[in-house]
Amino acid sequence: MKDSINVGLQERSYQIDFGPGIISDISESLAEINFSRKVALITNVTVNALHGERLLSLLAQAGFDVTLIAVKDGEEYKNLETLSFIYDELVKAGIDRSCGIIAFGGGVVGDMAGLGAATFMRGVDYVQVPTTLLSQVDSSVGGKTAVNHPSGKNLIGAFNQPRLVVIDTDYLQTLPAREFNAGMAEVVKYGVIRNSEFFDWLNHHYQDLRNLKAEALVHAIKTSCQIKADIVEIDEKESSLRAILNFGHTFGHAVESLTDYQRFLHGEAVAIGMVVAARVSQQLGYCEEADVARISDLLIKLDLPVEVPKFPLSEYLEAMMHDKKVADGKLKMVFNKGIGDCLISQLDYPEVEFKTILDEVKGR
Ligand code: NAD
Ligand code: GLY
Repeated sequence: MKDSINVGLQERSYQIDFGPGIISDISESLAEINFSRKVALITNVTVNALHGERLLSLLAQAGFDVTLIAVKDGEEYKNLETLSFIYDELVKAGIDRSCGIIAFGGGVVGDMAGLGAATFMRGVDYVQVPTTLLSQVDSSVGGKTAVNHPSGKNLIGAFNQPRLVVIDTDYLQTLPAREFNAGMAEVVKYGVIRNSEFFDWLNHHYQDLRNLKAEALVHAIKTSCQIKADIVEIDEKESSLRAILNFGHTFGHAVESLTDYQRFLHGEAVAIGMVVAARVSQQLGYCEEADVARISDLLIKLDLPVEVPKFPLSEYLEAMMHDKKVADGKLKMVFNKGIGDCLISQLDYPEVEFKTILDEVKGR
């Protein structure tokens, strides 16, 4: 039942394994990469309560010496204080550079454990075992790790590729539906920017995905990871191409920031951002109105928001100009070319391009 793809990055290459129930084979998978038998299992209290015991016992039965480190659950704990707690626990457990770290949870745990692995004793090998849809299709792949700073998200981080990613789709059985749908926004993103056949497939199979049908989940997650892996192989450190993964994120981040990160999950804000990006793309002649409608309709079918929250244009523009992606005071954005292709371009007159869209909102 196990399916795999490879992320080819010379000496930093690694495999991503997919399938329902594949966590049962974790010890064999770790042995295949000669992973240390002394490991720290970093998770959060929620994932630990649901799935920690099973993973601990699988590892213990196979003779691994495991120290469990469970952090508090929430984006608000993705900070230097929690990272410092992780360092303390790693020291207490006697972890050194010959040991390993397993990141077990959603994107918050994965990003934080990955940064811990990059920095503790100047680097410890780590493996990602992602348990949310977002982390299975996005954050566990590609090596971006980070914690937040009070002045911005993911400001303190490092590129640090894992040695292996183990994606057991059965973990999604316990994921709240809202979190699942938010992860689907990133899946739709891959279809829009890179693969129109996949976008069509999602339109036909979104119900199977929502019903957690294993075959459909594996196909969607594997295709998403393959698209991301292909991009990361070309541009690991986001000097050019990798930035296309930010489709919908420029406006999405502004939505998150204007709503104080309280009203929308990240994927929900990205859904709104993708529809706005598609509308701007249409205004600039990169796609048709029908493409915007198809993107919006699929997101609606996935119970994702597509309505732009009412804030003045000036506030949106200011929030977008604070984005990490702004270079030399110029806003760069990803535009979809039809469905299945995209381009990155500077937006010279954002106040004009976004005005029409926000005027439509005001008029409703
Ligand atoms: P998350 O890690 O906060 O997980 C969402 C919620 O689901 C949490 O409450 C978590 O405890 C719970 N959960 C996790 N697995 C579960 C399971 N199997 N069953 C039930 N509940 C479960 O959020 P996320 O959406 O996974 O990740 C968001 C984070 O990822 C953000 O911090 C973002 O910056 C980061 N991110 C990183 C990258 C990257 O490339 N590194 C890409 C995208 C997002
Ligand atoms: N989530 C975007 C990236 O990994 O580059």
